[in-house]
Amino acid sequence: MHREGGGEVFDFRPSLPILVYRPESLTAGRHLMGQLANGNQPERLFENGRVHHKSRNCHCEERFLRRSNSLFAHWRLLCFARDDTCGGIFKHSEKDVTMITLNDVRSAGQTIAPYVKRTPTERNHTLSERLRTNVYLKLELFQKTGSFKPRGAFNKMLHLRDEEKERGVVAVSGGNFAQGVAYAGKVLGVRTHIVMPQYTPHNYVAATKSYGAQVELLPDVQAAFDRAEEYKRQGWIYFHPYDDPDIMQGHGTIGLELLEDVPQLTDVIISVGGGALMGGNAVVIKELKPSVRIWTVETEGADAMGRALQAGKVVHIRPTSLAKTLGAPYVAADALWIAQRHVEDHIIVSDAQAFRAQVLLLERAKVLAELAASCTLAAAERLQDNFSSADHVVLVLCGGNVSLDDLTEYKRLLE
Ligand SMILES: Cc1ncc(COP(=O)(O)O)c(C=O)c1O
Repeated sequence: MHREGGGEVFDFRPSLPILVYRPESLTAGRHLMGQLANGNQPERLFENGRVHHKSRNCHCEERFLRRSNSLFAHWRLLCFARDDTCGGIFKHSEKDVTMITLNDVRSAGQTIAPYVKRTPTERNHTLSERLRTNVYLKLELFQKTGSFKPRGAFNKMLHLRDEEKERGVVAVSGGNFAQGVAYAGKVLGVRTHIVMPQYTPHNYVAATKSYGAQVELLPDVQAAFDRAEEYKRQGWIYFHPYDDPDIMQGHGTIGLELLEDVPQLTDVIISVGGGALMGGNAVVIKELKPSVRIWTVETEGADAMGRALQAGKVVHIRPTSLAKTLGAPYVAADALWIAQRHVEDHIIVSDAQAFRAQVLLLERAKVLAELAASCTLAAAERLQDNFSSADHVVLVLCGGNVSLDDLTEYKRLLE
């Protein structure tokens, strides 16, 4: 049992993990329920059964909800009850956490295998010499669409019911998630509508359109989110880029491949935006090989995780980094929870350091990584004293969607 978000979380494990959240007061529970009711998508859930339990001074009946059509291995039972007042059960909140498991990710791996590339992990001689350890690059920038995003997007889309697929999927993204969702929609025959801020780089807009998505440009991110809300109300299925266990599980499949390819793995460096990439992989790697150290990295001005770790709670930021694809306005609560438990250290590098690493990767490793990926090399340089010649350090090069215009602009601004 541990304390979480002001309430107590009990962990019952009769067969599957069950979380019961009990706020400290009924008022707090009701407040949370209100929030949950707004963000909930009840059409995606169905009532699977009933369970009765008695815990401490809380005796209540709880219905539990399960994904209708997936092999979702985790259960979430949220109980807003004190004494014998049963408040209800909801799927999502800022305060509870979803425990994705290794089995979830393995199942996601099977689900998405026909649709995504199994990307290679290669030892890099120059970087190994430079950092005096064994450095490997997980070349996820060679994934379809140029980033890891199709992993989560396919996992989520493949779990939709037929009726949901017919309604179409809406997403807000000015980056790689847009392309991942658009591509998955094209392959699976699902209509996709992507709302983007109008300052989204033209190469992202063009690529998203090329995968068949309808693209709508709005003045800023907030307006884009508001528009997506309207679509949701009209019946479209909303895909959140990172605050979603299906997405996290899909991204976590990178970790399965890493450990297969580098069984001697000792360290992984991975970047964080909203946290689904890190979260899925940290769970998998720590469960399969607990001795592996997970190091995370953000750039200055895209440090939603750094701030959340400092504050001990999710905080909202206004991203300013040139590493736009790391610029999440806040991290998912699940991701924070995982980072608090599994991350060795969290590094913040400057845009200039990420750019220098980008140039190094281009010139010496012959790969064009975007800043959200090259920052892992900048972090490795910072962390060098932690690595010995016996260590095997993987940098997750999670994306390579950068245009020549971007590179020129970085050079102008940062050199
Ligand atoms: C290339 C790249 N790296 C890292 C991230 C961060 O992923 P997450 O938001 O799951 O932390 C993103 C997110 O858009 C990305 O596009």
